[in-house]
Amino acid sequence: MGTMVMSSVHVPVMVDEVVAGLQVQRAGKFVDCTVGLGGHAAAILRHIFPDGDLLGLDVDCEAVSIARSNLSMYRDKVTVVNDNFNNLEDICRRLNFYPVDGILFDLGISSMQLDVSQRGFSFRRDAPLDMRFDTSQDLNAANIVNTCSEEELAHIFREYGEERYSKRIARCIVEARPITNTLELAHIAERVAGRRRGRIHPATRIFMALRIVVNSELENLRLALEQAVKLLHFRGRLVVISYHSLEDRIVKEFMRCASSGRVSSPSLKLITKKIIRPSEEERETNPRSRSAKMRVAERLE
Ligand SMILES: C[S@@+](CC[C@H](N)C(=O)[O-])C[C@H]1O[C@@H](n2cnc3c(N)ncnc32)[C@H](O)[C@@H]1O
Repeated sequence: MGTMVMSSVHVPVMVDEVVAGLQVQRAGKFVDCTVGLGGHAAAILRHIFPDGDLLGLDVDCEAVSIARSNLSMYRDKVTVVNDNFNNLEDICRRLNFYPVDGILFDLGISSMQLDVSQRGFSFRRDAPLDMRFDTSQDLNAANIVNTCSEEELAHIFREYGEERYSKRIARCIVEARPITNTLELAHIAERVAGRRRGRIHPATRIFMALRIVVNSELENLRLALEQAVKLLHFRGRLVVISYHSLEDRIVKEFMRCASSGRVSSPSLKLITKKIIRPSEEERETNPRSRSAKMRVAERLE
């Protein structure tokens, strides 16, 4: 497995836009909350080394060991911690790494996680139904698929996958249980929703919904955004790249609320009134970038 992981490539999305959005400057101090394989982190470190510092987090221990190795040339100017960004504030305070000039979230899944079939994120490869970012946690996708009631499953697929056939897919799953593999689940989605040319694979939404629930993605994002603001310097930047509408809605609402008159003293100023999207060229060369949306905000006094 080691060589397979090391050879997998993750092309970071909107690198120049991230560096500009964070206003990366030489002696800067930055946190990359989703360090992954270290693509964005390396781009930041190239600008700040040897004067600045970067702290990287990832909940996936496999990603952490790859990032550490990919960033080793930056020596003691980079620290990579295996933890969940829902502990962001505690981690930064423990390491005395605050206030900071910028915080980055590049949400979702890395190409490495998708490519390593036994992680169970892809509906195109047969693997155990897993989908955990944090392989030390107990809950995985198989637990949800095999133990939730039909109504609970339908709710998950509707709420987190925006799946129109959620009830029918939930019923077929309950009839076919136990389901232990990715392809078994993908076939059920395909049987119910049918495959149509030019449309996304019917398993896409089901897999996305399960991944969101297994990893508490939306709750963790809400918690981390609140904490991120507290760690920023005056004029420090918060940059978030999201890949689906549920995440983007949370980021948009959070930034709008923190920057509006709805709160007594706004803590953020919106830098991107509209989302930033990858260039056409990037969308063509890196298909993973196609759904990316970037938002930037700045800390007020
Ligand atoms: C899109 S990848 C990041 C890729 C990275 N920017 C790069 O250039 O290599 C997202 C990463 O976030 C991590 N992740 C997801 N949820 C997390 C959480 N709650 N806490 C920490 N890391 C998380 C995943 O394990 C994954 O490695």
